[in-house]
Amino acid sequence: MSPSLLLTFLCGLLFIAGEAAQVAAESGGVDDKEVLLELKRFLVANNKVNRGGYEAWQESGQSPCLWRGVGCNRGGRVASLNLTCSTISGPAFGNFSRLSALTSLDLSDNSIIGALPASDLNQCHSLVHLNISHNLITGSLNVSGLTKLRVLDVSANRLEGGVAVNFPAICANLTLLHLSTNNFTGNITNMLEGCTRLEYVDLSSNNFDGELLPDIARFRKFSVAENNLSGTVPWTMFPDGCKLQSLDLSANQLVGSFPDSIAKCTNLTYLSLWGNNFAGMVPAGIGKLASLDALVLGKNRFDRQIPQELTNCMSLQFLDISRNMFGGDVQEIFGNFMSLKYLVLHHNNYTGGIVASGVLRLPLLARLDLSFNEFTSDLPQEVADMKSLKYLTLADNNFSGRIPPEYGRLAELQALDLSNNTLSGGIPASIGNLTSLLWLILAGNQLSGEIPPEIGYCTSLLWLNLADNQLTGNIPPEMAEIGRNPGPTFAKNRNDTSVFIGSNECQVMRRWIPASYRPFNFINSVLTDPRTKKDSVMTGGNCRNIWDRILKGYIIVPMCTSSLSVGSLPGYVQLSRNMLSGEIPPRIGTMQNIGLLFLDGNSFTGQLPRDIGRLPLVELNISRNNISGPIPSEIGEYMCLERMDLSFNNLSDELPTSLFKLTELVLFNVSYNPLISGNISTTGQFGTFDEQSFLGDPLISLDQGEPAGKKQPGEEAPYVTAVERSSIPTAILV
Ligand SMILES: *[C@@H]1O[C@H](CO)[C@@H](O)[C@H](O)[C@H]1NC(C)=O
Ligand SMILES: *[C@@H]1O[C@H](CO)[C@@H](O)[C@H](O)[C@H]1NC(C)=O
Ligand SMILES: *[C@@H]1O[C@H](CO)[C@@H](O)[C@H](O)[C@H]1NC(C)=O
Ligand SMILES: *[C@@H]1O[C@H](CO)[C@@H](O)[C@H](O)[C@H]1NC(C)=O
Ligand SMILES: *[C@@H]1O[C@H](CO)[C@@H](O)[C@H](O)[C@H]1NC(C)=O
Ligand SMILES: *[C@@H]1O[C@H](CO)[C@@H](O)[C@H](O)[C@H]1NC(C)=O
Ligand SMILES: *[C@@H]1O[C@H](CO)[C@@H](O)[C@H](O)[C@H]1NC(C)=O
Ligand SMILES: *[C@@H]1O[C@H](CO)[C@@H](O)[C@H](O)[C@H]1NC(C)=O
Ligand SMILES: *[C@@H]1O[C@H](CO)[C@@H](O)[C@H](O)[C@H]1NC(C)=O
Ligand SMILES: *[C@@H]1O[C@H](CO)[C@@H](O)[C@H](O)[C@H]1NC(C)=O
Ligand SMILES: *[C@@H]1O[C@H](CO)[C@@H](O)[C@H](O)[C@H]1NC(C)=O
Ligand SMILES: *[C@@H]1O[C@H](CO)[C@@H](O)[C@H](O)[C@H]1NC(C)=O
Repeated sequence: MSPSLLLTFLCGLLFIAGEAAQVAAESGGVDDKEVLLELKRFLVANNKVNRGGYEAWQESGQSPCLWRGVGCNRGGRVASLNLTCSTISGPAFGNFSRLSALTSLDLSDNSIIGALPASDLNQCHSLVHLNISHNLITGSLNVSGLTKLRVLDVSANRLEGGVAVNFPAICANLTLLHLSTNNFTGNITNMLEGCTRLEYVDLSSNNFDGELLPDIARFRKFSVAENNLSGTVPWTMFPDGCKLQSLDLSANQLVGSFPDSIAKCTNLTYLSLWGNNFAGMVPAGIGKLASLDALVLGKNRFDRQIPQELTNCMSLQFLDISRNMFGGDVQEIFGNFMSLKYLVLHHNNYTGGIVASGVLRLPLLARLDLSFNEFTSDLPQEVADMKSLKYLTLADNNFSGRIPPEYGRLAELQALDLSNNTLSGGIPASIGNLTSLLWLILAGNQLSGEIPPEIGYCTSLLWLNLADNQLTGNIPPEMAEIGRNPGPTFAKNRNDTSVFIGSNECQVMRRWIPASYRPFNFINSVLTDPRTKKDSVMTGGNCRNIWDRILKGYIIVPMCTSSLSVGSLPGYVQLSRNMLSGEIPPRIGTMQNIGLLFLDGNSFTGQLPRDIGRLPLVELNISRNNISGPIPSEIGEYMCLERMDLSFNNLSDELPTSLFKLTELVLFNVSYNPLISGNISTTGQFGTFDEQSFLGDPLISLDQGEPAGKKQPGEEAPYVTAVERSSIPTAILV
């Protein structure tokens, strides 16, 4: 699928609400019409396929005021132009300034590339509203001629350099300034001086440095997340009358203690200090913030002792104090935040105190993350009584003993991640009562016994990972029922508007939608800061948005969806490196939503069932088993198959020629199946595989021709660039 196709697809979804064609007066200036037609010709020339609504603009007759995306003023002049999400690609049009009555221009969410024509936009002196966000615009930003602006959104582009704007000059009426997700540099300390009407400021994800601006308390929303700000936050930062409703300072290099004067920002609902070097006590003044619903203090060096006053935050729903390396027992104060829905305490070196702290009795808790600590006890039974629990992450500790069968009572549970502990015993049959479950991640334990057939009742379960255990016996045929119908769980999540505030979805996403599994590797590009190539956006809008979409079952990347009945992401069944045996049940071929099947490193025998050809597979790994017989020719019907590893088995007969039709295949390994035979086609995709794919296969004959158009394993699929382009909008502040 081409990137542009993909974009249309994503945009379409984001604007279900339809257009707000601003139809106004009768005529439309003659000259305006000429400019619009020139614009249409320009856009058409740059977009061979998938054109936006502008394609319907008619040369003859109709007034341009009636055209889609065009709005006129009372005098019939073109006053607004809205080409958002119109699959525009290529350079920017250079004659907007000839629309001299233009007050509003929205070019957001397209693929406009290159620098903005030097003076054109800057001559649109009437502009009040300018949105060029979510494009691929490069170069510097010069809007010094736009003195009437109220709204300026240039976020999610590739703009760079100092903001070449004398802000005071365009600031008279500016209320909203979004510069986020670009590569702007320079000292911001005094950048917004004189912009007295500014209320919404988002400077996040750039390379700004300097110290925090001294007067942020005059804004309603302010984010400078993911920059290089240094210095301390002085007491004077938050004077009486502080207007802040949302403040995000995450991922900078701020130091010192955080001032108690934050108590003066009484309207604050969201505060993130994540990823700085704040130390000392968490300010008790936070306890005066009666409207606060999200508090994110993770990845700092706050004192272990947390002031009791914080429990006065009666609206607090989301609390993240992860990565502070507190050590010892979970602090008892956490059991007193009665309104909490999310509690995120991973990477804190805790050794105990889960039950004693009372966190398991928080009546509304929906997400509890205690992963990456040093707990050694049995899994607490008390968890089973947490009626609201949806996401439980106890991974990467040293929990031992059995999985309590009582966990089957967690009727609302959507994700259970107990991976990388030392749990033993069997998987309880009561797991079958978890009918809302989307993820079951029990990998990396010492679980034994058979997979209970009751797992088949988990019809929402799209993502199952039981790898690296000691499970024995057959795959129960009932397992083919998992993931058959996640719809009801997604529907519940779509209905629930309150749940998805907060941060740190990135880490969870990496674990549950592993970027190393194609086709999930787009996650990497989203989670990696393109500037530093390091993990990024840990608190940022990207993760939050994608995560939100995943949980609601919305389409993230359309890939080979023709055969996938869920339009979100393909499910996986990951059973690698256990001691499973017997034949792979043919019923597995009925798993309509499973795109990745990993059965490698077990003791499966018998033939590969033909029905496996009915799965919408992207990746199949059955390597290191004892599977024999021919490769079913039906596998050639997997048009989406990208990776197939059949190595180290006893497969025989001739390679079916249907395989040569697999145009997406980038990894093919049939090595060490000594009975397999065939002449390998050197044309098409198979021409890209060399002898590494056929080691230890004496009956295979390889034509050593020069392969053409080699597609390397690991080469990025088109959707990577598309998503990187941030077609998924960045929600700035919660
Ligand atoms: C442009 O149209 C979209 C809907 O298609 C709407 O969401 C957006 O607010 C409009 N932009 C402006 C500046 O009115
Ligand atoms: C814009 O106008 C200039 C003349 O003012 C013209 O040369 C140019 O071709 C026009 N079109 C574009 C796309 O810039
Ligand atoms: C600008 O456009 C983007 C994408 O269409 C949209 O998400 C954003 O809300 C717009 N900005 C403003 C300030 O309206
Ligand atoms: C910005 O553009 C104007 C003309 O539109 C020009 O006079 C000014 O020098 C430019 N400023 C910078 C810093 O490039
Ligand atoms: C600012 O807005 C007011 C109306 O709200 C208007 O009268 C004034 O002319 C604007 N200033 C500029 C520089 O556009
Ligand atoms: C940033 O600008 C402020 C005010 O001009 C100045 O005090 C500070 O030293 C500058 N910081 C850096 C890192 O350049
Ligand atoms: C806080 O919010 C209330 C209600 O919206 C508003 O009346 C008040 O002016 C706000 N306070 C500040 C300092 O902005
Ligand atoms: C906490 O655990 C991390 C590893 O998870 C370790 O590097 C660090 O030294 C520990 N810190 C303390 C204070 O125990
Ligand atoms: C378990 O830990 C290993 C080693 O750190 C890691 O590679 C693996 O991804 C973890 N498993 C899960 C399911 O997170
Ligand atoms: C599921 O729960 C019901 C009671 O609600 C119980 O009777 C049944 O045994 C449970 N199923 C399993 C597999 O534990
Ligand atoms: C969604 O919410 C509405 C109203 O709150 C309710 O009637 C409906 O049953 C809910 N649907 C689902 C799938 O939960
Ligand atoms: C961002 O700007 C910095 C400094 O100007 C530069 O080193 C870096 O290459 C730029 N990154 C991108 C992705 O343009």
